[in-house]
Amino acid sequence: MSIRLHEAWSGRFGAILAVAGSAVGLGNFIRFPAQAAQYGGGGFMIAYFISFLIIGIPLCWSEWTLGRMGSRYGYHSSAGVLHAILRSPWAKYVGALGFIVVTLIYSYYVVIEAWCLGYAVNAIAGTFHTGSFDSEAFFGSFAGLGQNGASVGFGLGDIGLFLILAFALNFFFIYRGVTRGIEWVCRYALPALVILGLIILVRVLTLGTPDPAKPDQNVLNGLGFLWNPGDIGTDLLNPQLWLAAASQVFFSLSIGMGVIITYASYLKPKDDVVLSGLTAAAANEVCEVGIGGLMTVPAAYVFLGAAGVVGSTVGMGFVVLPQVFTFMAGGQLFAILYFGLLFLAAITSSLSMLQPGIALLEEGLGLRRQASVTVLGVLTACGAGFVWYFSQGLTALATIDFWVANVLIFIQATLIVIIFGWVIGVDRGLAEARRGARMQIPAIWGPIIRYVCPLYLGAIFFLFIINKVIGWNFQFGDKLEIERSSYVTNLIGPNANPVAIASVALILALSAATFVIVRISARRWDKHLTATKP
Ligand code: ALA
Repeated sequence: MSIRLHEAWSGRFGAILAVAGSAVGLGNFIRFPAQAAQYGGGGFMIAYFISFLIIGIPLCWSEWTLGRMGSRYGYHSSAGVLHAILRSPWAKYVGALGFIVVTLIYSYYVVIEAWCLGYAVNAIAGTFHTGSFDSEAFFGSFAGLGQNGASVGFGLGDIGLFLILAFALNFFFIYRGVTRGIEWVCRYALPALVILGLIILVRVLTLGTPDPAKPDQNVLNGLGFLWNPGDIGTDLLNPQLWLAAASQVFFSLSIGMGVIITYASYLKPKDDVVLSGLTAAAANEVCEVGIGGLMTVPAAYVFLGAAGVVGSTVGMGFVVLPQVFTFMAGGQLFAILYFGLLFLAAITSSLSMLQPGIALLEEGLGLRRQASVTVLGVLTACGAGFVWYFSQGLTALATIDFWVANVLIFIQATLIVIIFGWVIGVDRGLAEARRGARMQIPAIWGPIIRYVCPLYLGAIFFLFIINKVIGWNFQFGDKLEIERSSYVTNLIGPNANPVAIASVALILALSAATFVIVRISARRWDKHLTATKP
């Protein structure tokens, strides 16, 4: 019986483009600046770079290597890849996370992608530059913050049409396959978004001091707000800052999601994974730190001052910046470019969240492309429809984001590191990684993957549970403040929120269905693995 799907990237460059496309997304241009600003810049940047080196790069290499190993057996889903490599009954369930995480993230990511598209079209229509424009009121009504169902409309100021369009575009490209769909989009979208980013960056860096009455609000101070070290000693004692920095590295590099395992499985057996992995990660950092980090915060700072910069992640992109564009000379053009950039960045990432699902449905259940696209389309339409409808206070979006993009990503990343460093074994793992490599992995990475990564991840996860789940907020040397996290009080106790409970039920339902799917798939895979030798 055949499992092979006969799909592959057009070459090594195609794989790098696709992985970089997956990595460069809303995380780079909205999440990163918002997080850095929230944690006061300097200290956050130190924790961010340490996390990037200690867990980001080793995890990238581990996932690239695992994916390419899976391709040798003809598998492309995390579940299939891990089942084929490890031949243990539990491996497929770890791999199941590679479907659960991305499918759930897609459900709200495509909604934000639709906001970007809607904002770009509204920028073209001049909505932000009408005399009475109020960015907070506009976003509230566009995203339906006030009431569930309030964003279900199809006008220029509603998300409906844009969501359908974004959704349809994603499925059109995913239907075309990895080369004609994903790689094709990344080939044009990535260079385009870098050019847009650079144009906006030049504009921001030449803003000078727009209001002479407020000489402090100048570009240099705006850059300093993000980059000045501040009180590093105190900042670095805050566990929340480390959690935020590590989560940002995961989300931004698309690691701990299962995406890279699937993407790398479309490589040929001797294609390089070491230099490719590093190149894709470096491209992401250039876009994140070099473009996203330099343009958003300074632009907001020069017009709104320090108080205007700090806001929630979505607030930064969809409330603060539209306001900033109304003050900026040529603001309408730059708003079009900025939201166009966000949409391009988002679509290359959302496509990467669909491919693991397509791979699982095709190789696990034996579905043809049309059927797998339809099944995944219905599943994700239910998820996105849920997030779209239950828009009040963005509770559904925030709940799924918290439990999936923070908790499940951490769990999946930790399991992958343990599998690579301990189950496969670091020697075999690194020998696999070195096959066809155009650059040597330094020997020090062996102990880092085996010891440092799991300890670092474990420590961060422990702090995470203490801080965000149990809700003990503390700073080392400070007293313990007990305040239950709203993510927990939303689920249990007198303030439980039905939408938050329904969101967690959705996560559990998809997880249960996925475990059943991989269990059924494993029977098929076992027959195939016995019948064929790698
Ligand atoms: N890596 C993607 C992003 O940063 C998910 O948005």
